[in-house]
Amino acid sequence: MGYPLHRLSRLRKNERLRRMIGETRISIDDLIMPYFIITGKKAIEPIESMPGICRISIDNLIKETKEVEQLGIPAILLFGIPEKKDALGSQAYVKDGIVQRAVREVKKEIPALTIITDVCLCSYTVHGHCGIVKDGEIDNDSTIELLARTALSHAQAGADIVAPSAMMDGQVKTIRENLDNNGYRKTAIMSYSAKYASSFYGPFREAANSSPQFGDRKLYQMNPANSDEAISEIKLDVEEGADIVMVKPALAYLDIISRVRDEFTVPIAAYNVSGEYAMVKAASQRGWLEEKKIVLEMLTSIKRAGADIIITYWAKEVAKWLKS
Ligand code: PBG
Repeated sequence: MGYPLHRLSRLRKNERLRRMIGETRISIDDLIMPYFIITGKKAIEPIESMPGICRISIDNLIKETKEVEQLGIPAILLFGIPEKKDALGSQAYVKDGIVQRAVREVKKEIPALTIITDVCLCSYTVHGHCGIVKDGEIDNDSTIELLARTALSHAQAGADIVAPSAMMDGQVKTIRENLDNNGYRKTAIMSYSAKYASSFYGPFREAANSSPQFGDRKLYQMNPANSDEAISEIKLDVEEGADIVMVKPALAYLDIISRVRDEFTVPIAAYNVSGEYAMVKAASQRGWLEEKKIVLEMLTSIKRAGADIIITYWAKEVAKWLKS
């Protein structure tokens, strides 16, 4: 084995040959497009640190999702930004909350599109934490009850998949039980299982107006230094009933995606988060990087690491690039 008998470059001779022996492909079927939803009519608010992404009202979301549907993107992920916040994040689980209304209206217009809803309290609480605060601390066990109420209200509105992202212990179990007890046995759960306490979420917090007003999220999100712990988190979520597990962020955590692929058979989603988006956008706007090539390379790497599904703010652009 070896040179001169073997020359691996023989199969790199031209584009078609390279495609033929390509081991990884990204497809439109892999993509999920996230949206930030606000109240009002014809509202569209650009997010400074995420060029091209806006907070939009439901009427604009309907227009957007028609395009998403035409492009063949299978699913959208909804984040709600309520008009008012309170200590218990109550706008997260009211029947006519922003996400619940958005889900109902999109389902009515485009029933075939898969709707995934983010289930968390951080955009809905005055302090911006993902759970409710008691005596200065996040109270895990009362938070998961509220997350379960939130998930049920999303399912009742017509969500196909609920996606708990608060990183509270037992959130998947509590949500699964509440859905089942209320007849929503077919609503799936995509759990943000291995979600790290990452600085890559900065632009998102501007978008969702969800920065913690005191402390940080290290008491519930994972330490970026840990890999074994991600396996423990995912194992627990699968046991609790998660249908899809997620690793987040994606790019700095490809080793985690790869390990999870080796150890589990469940579908894996990777979240190509706001900070990953912002970095590439900023550099490409200056002409320092070629956006399309960089994005396709990044998404290919995320799939090569083992992800089945990619949540990305580039979903629409990628779908257009893949079509042309
Ligand atoms: C809510 C949530 C966050 C993201 C998704 N769901 C922010 C956070 O945990 O602070 C981040 C997504 C992104 O950065 O694109 N808990």
